Amino acid sequence: MRIMRAAFASAFNDDDPLAALTVGDRPEPEQPDDWVTVEVRASSLNHHDLWSLRGVGLSAERLPMILGCDAAGVDPAGNDVVVYPLVADPGDPRGASILSEHYQGTFAERVAVPRGNLLPKPAGLSFTDAACLPTAWLTAYRMLTTKGRVDSADAVLVQGAGGGVATAAVVLAVALGKRVYATSRDAAKRERIAQLGATALEPGARLPERVDVVIETVGAATFDHSLKSAAPGARIVVSGATAGHEPKVNLRRVFAMQLEIVGTSMGTPDELAALLRLCAERDIRPVVDDVYGFSEVTAAFARLHSGDVFGKVVLDHTR
Ligand SMILES: NC(=O)c1ccc[n+]([C@@H]2O[C@H](COP(=O)([O-])OP(=O)(O)OC[C@H]3O[C@@H](n4cnc5c(N)ncnc54)[C@H](OP(=O)(O)O)[C@@H]3O)[C@@H](O)[C@H]2O)c1
Repeated sequence: MRIMRAAFASAFNDDDPLAALTVGDRPEPEQPDDWVTVEVRASSLNHHDLWSLRGVGLSAERLPMILGCDAAGVDPAGNDVVVYPLVADPGDPRGASILSEHYQGTFAERVAVPRGNLLPKPAGLSFTDAACLPTAWLTAYRMLTTKGRVDSADAVLVQGAGGGVATAAVVLAVALGKRVYATSRDAAKRERIAQLGATALEPGARLPERVDVVIETVGAATFDHSLKSAAPGARIVVSGATAGHEPKVNLRRVFAMQLEIVGTSMGTPDELAALLRLCAERDIRPVVDDVYGFSEVTAAFARLHSGDVFGKVVLDHTR
């Protein structure tokens, strides 16, 4: 059995998720028929990894579990690839699970995935940039396009704009030619959002116009503002609830304004391929908060946990 270096959940800790993280040796994951093992060159962290350490979405009998949903690397034939992180999983009510929930994740020297989960990495994208796209950026892309129908929209609101999904939504909506409003609690982040081409606002601030699409990953803290900011027929697209999943919802506003509250998770392989193409053709690059060497993975988790991030926290597995 080959041993490899990995970052994994060894326990759950709701109060202090970093205490549940272990960095050490793990066996190389099994490779069933039609699966391939990818040498990971770069990966990126998602809030999902902190949820896993808290025991949300991961059950105790699956521990120890290598964390990480996102990776770019090299396949056994020497091709540069991006890993699509959802794997068909008949035991899961969603029909699929994301790497690190059932199958071992990407924060390791190697990750095994079904052969069909590999997409070619566009030559113009670095491994560290490509590793940002499969989860947060794919989610934002689907929120805007397939679910939000942003083609027919003039204006978009992104809540909690410092996050990985949210910065992706801002960059993509600006690139698609929309007027973009984005809220953040932090003045410095608002300044950086403005540099990305959005109008930055404090949470809860009145917008100069109602928007057709709202990108929601914050939840309870911002949902009422999302409802109030929505134009008639707007789509409020929800893919996360970092600040609480049980907001009060004014149903009168939902029906009177004919709003659509649309849930979504991740995206399809075709959507990931379209996103990779869009980034390569339009020279769009992910917003990266910081790149850590794999040996600094604990510091990378602490950075994400601090809540101070602006964009993606990335791991370079070559150092
Ligand atoms: N369903 C899916 O497929 C999918 C995929 C990816 C992510 N997600 C979910 O989406 C959420 C965001 O993920 P992420 O990786 O982008 O997380 P992240 O990078 O950690 O970002 C979280 C952001 O939420 C905002 N926030 C946190 N607490 C807040 C509060 N009390 N009030 C207002 N804003 C608050 C912050 O923005 P400011 O500091 O700028 O205010 C923060 O930057 C997570 O819940 C995650 O589980 C879901």
